[in-house]
Amino acid sequence: MLPSFIRIIATILLVFLIDSAAAGNTTCAGNMTQWYTDAVGETACMTYQRLRQICNTNYEVPNFRQNTPGDQCDDQLQSCCCNSISWALSMLCMNCQWDVDGGSVSGIDAGIGAYGMYRSPSGPFCGPGTNQSLPSDIQAAVCNKDIKLANFLYELFWNDGAWRVVYTMSTAVKDEAATNNNMYTHCNSTTSSTLSSSTGISTASAAPSQTTTAASANSTQKINIALIIGPVIGGLIVLVAAVVIARSCLRKRRQRLVRVSLDTDTDSPYAHAMAVVSPYTVTDSGES
Ligand SMILES: *[C@@H]1O[C@H](CO)[C@@H](O)[C@H](O)[C@H]1NC(C)=O
Ligand SMILES: *[C@@H]1O[C@H](CO)[C@@H](O)[C@H](O)[C@H]1NC(C)=O
Ligand SMILES: *[C@@H]1O[C@H](CO)[C@@H](O)[C@H](O)[C@H]1NC(C)=O
Ligand SMILES: *[C@@H]1O[C@H](CO)[C@@H](O)[C@H](O)[C@H]1NC(C)=O
Repeated sequence: MLPSFIRIIATILLVFLIDSAAAGNTTCAGNMTQWYTDAVGETACMTYQRLRQICNTNYEVPNFRQNTPGDQCDDQLQSCCCNSISWALSMLCMNCQWDVDGGSVSGIDAGIGAYGMYRSPSGPFCGPGTNQSLPSDIQAAVCNKDIKLANFLYELFWNDGAWRVVYTMSTAVKDEAATNNNMYTHCNSTTSSTLSSSTGISTASAAPSQTTTAASANSTQKINIALIIGPVIGGLIVLVAAVVIARSCLRKRRQRLVRVSLDTDTDSPYAHAMAVVSPYTVTDSGES
């Protein structure tokens, strides 16, 4: 009984997490970047959002501006977006969002210097950042979170800060055909795309802690248990709190309803009207 209860709570939490991570303008207006979605399994905007959420969990893909750069690197922790890979993804996302009727048929290119503007929204913001690679901790996080960053995102780079959509697409489509869509070789184990296998959890907990290189299997086990127990306890607390709050709300509402129906002569007409219109009245009467 208890294990199934825990599983239910874990599922609710997971759905909640996935739900809250999926906000933002990540859908494409047309099918210009369909080649990306087909190959990677998600839109370029979604990949971009997941990459930036490593550094800023609250990041959501905004509605891009119509002029390049459509978005900018402005997170306090800059290492996720202060690089040419994030820049290329932002341009792909822009092409995804602005692929509207009457939009540019051949897509949106970025001119010389646009990369610099992406990195410096207001004066110098990013440092030199990294080009054609990610900082090693970000790369490890990308691999642990199973974010598929295709090789062409690393390889293509225009020194003058420009970016070209058709050239990018052609390269990607060629790579995909040449490698049979095995073009995500910057992680050692991208082939396994299981969402939450136990091995996934153990690598996720073991990889970022570089200080404990001699971590024994025992401590990994402990971390795993903590990883599993933590959310469950959190979920239980949230559930209990929700029940308590819901109960006290219900009780208050009942008391208010009783009071209002008794005081109809003296009270303002609004209070009565509100009690009748209240969407919760139906549930309330259904319960009692
Ligand atoms: C993209 O959409 C257009 C019109 O909506 C359609 O004619 C075309 O075949 C589509 N292309 C792909 C690759 O799905
Ligand atoms: C997404 O962004 C595009 C471009 O900024 C905008 O035209 C579109 O309305 C947005 N979609 C949603 C659902 O907000
Ligand atoms: C990356 O490229 C930009 C623009 O080409 C340049 O300003 C920046 O210094 C480069 N960063 C590194 C680390 O080379
Ligand atoms: C992949 O494995 C090699 C050695 O096997 C290692 O040097 C490299 O850092 C690993 N890359 C990642 C992203 O973990």
